[in-house]
Amino acid sequence: MVTLSTVILAAGQGTRMRSHLPKVLHPLAGRPLLAHVLQTSQSLANNTNYVVYGHGGEQVQQAFANWKALTWIEQTEQLGTGHAVAQALPQIEDDATVLVLYGDVPLIQSKTLQFLTQAVTANSLAILTVDLEQPTGYGRIVRDHRGQVVRIVEEKDADTITRKITEVNTGILAAPARALRKWLAALQPNNAQSEYYLTDIIALAVADGFHVHTQQPHSEQEVLGVNDRIQLASLERYYQLQQAHDLMRHGVSLADPSRLDIRGEVTLTGQDIFIDVNVILSGQVSLGEGVSIGANCVVQDAVIGDHVEILPNSVVEDAVVAQGCHIGPFARLRPGTMLAEGVRVGNFVELKKADVGQGSKINHLSYIGDCDIGRAVNVGAGTITCNYDGVNKFKTTIGDGAFIGSDTQLVAPVTVGAGATIGAGSTITKDTPPNQLSLSRSKQVSFSQWQRPQKKT
Ligand code: UD1
Ligand code: CA
Repeated sequence: MVTLSTVILAAGQGTRMRSHLPKVLHPLAGRPLLAHVLQTSQSLANNTNYVVYGHGGEQVQQAFANWKALTWIEQTEQLGTGHAVAQALPQIEDDATVLVLYGDVPLIQSKTLQFLTQAVTANSLAILTVDLEQPTGYGRIVRDHRGQVVRIVEEKDADTITRKITEVNTGILAAPARALRKWLAALQPNNAQSEYYLTDIIALAVADGFHVHTQQPHSEQEVLGVNDRIQLASLERYYQLQQAHDLMRHGVSLADPSRLDIRGEVTLTGQDIFIDVNVILSGQVSLGEGVSIGANCVVQDAVIGDHVEILPNSVVEDAVVAQGCHIGPFARLRPGTMLAEGVRVGNFVELKKADVGQGSKINHLSYIGDCDIGRAVNVGAGTITCNYDGVNKFKTTIGDGAFIGSDTQLVAPVTVGAGATIGAGSTITKDTPPNQLSLSRSKQVSFSQWQRPQKKT
């Protein structure tokens, strides 16, 4: 099996982004551009990745500190694409196939790359080209009368006839390492930009009797690069629509495919799912059979069980929601929330590290944090767990079948016994026994002689 060495060019400044963030760290669908490229190249068999960095190098390396099988290659001066690839070559063995990718061309597909690299032999190289109605800015593919590629000419070096060529260089190519090493060493910066052009290896290869294989990508978007924020936004929309189509193909109905954003990975464990407009799913989200997500919801890193209904304007983060739960509208599930089957969480309820038992209800205006709630508990409107003394967090435990009256404060650490009832308006500072009514409330008084102050006329 051929060893593959992928060299990913990511040393450019990215000036047109007008950003303090290196270009390849700008996110597409929630992940850095470079992460998309790396994920694709890591899917190729028997491959080692080399990332050529320059501008913002430390920041880029830091962002990918957890990625395996990555070699970082510094290009101290950006002297051109040929010079960039040459920086990695000392680390690459002669009999490897070298694949060149761009850190700012995020949507390249592994299928395309497989075909491209398979076309490489000891005396042929392969380049990915594309026909563009508007070829401006790209290197042009020049062919001879037999249709064989003879060289690539950069726009800035092209005469008017060459500029009319619509077949352009995507920049992505694959070549045998031994020959590539020789050609790169022969490059000269004799051109309009005084750079070492990678594209000049084509003419050198042809002079050496090599065949230049060309291939086009499945779709144009695969080879589109990001140079500014407008191009980034347009690739984002394209990518999001692809993901939306993919969900629909697997049994999800979308009110509007252009108003769903997925910034991560969605796993479906059922079908007949409905997602209304303006929903964002991020991180790892799993959706069960018949799940319905209302308008303007954000769901992040969550497992949503079968037939769960999330009503509009709810935010769910790092939570596990078992089947048949109802959430929202306007609910917020914060990290560490676990809802058992059939739990109801209503409007303006915030849950954090709350483990809520089967069939329990927290329907209105509550804050429940660091709390264990049993089964069939009813938490009244305006209930607050006072879980924080300014330094430490404390736990509240509520037993099965308890009934918490409205506007109750549970001052943690505290336990409400199973079957207990708490009278409305109580501040509970001590554990309450099971099956009893507990309340803490000042006596109500009325003054029969009292008169409301009157305005002087
Ligand atoms: C390059 C190609 C051109 C092709 C186009 C496709 C060359 C000479 N030209 O032109 O034929 O149509 O891509 O987009 O190869 N980079 C480095 N180090 C450098 C220079 C560049 O890492 O010294 C990286 C950049 O970060 C970028 C990529 O290489 O990701 C392409 O560089 P860029 O200067 O944008 O090349 P183009 O002029 O667009
Ligand atoms: Ca470019």
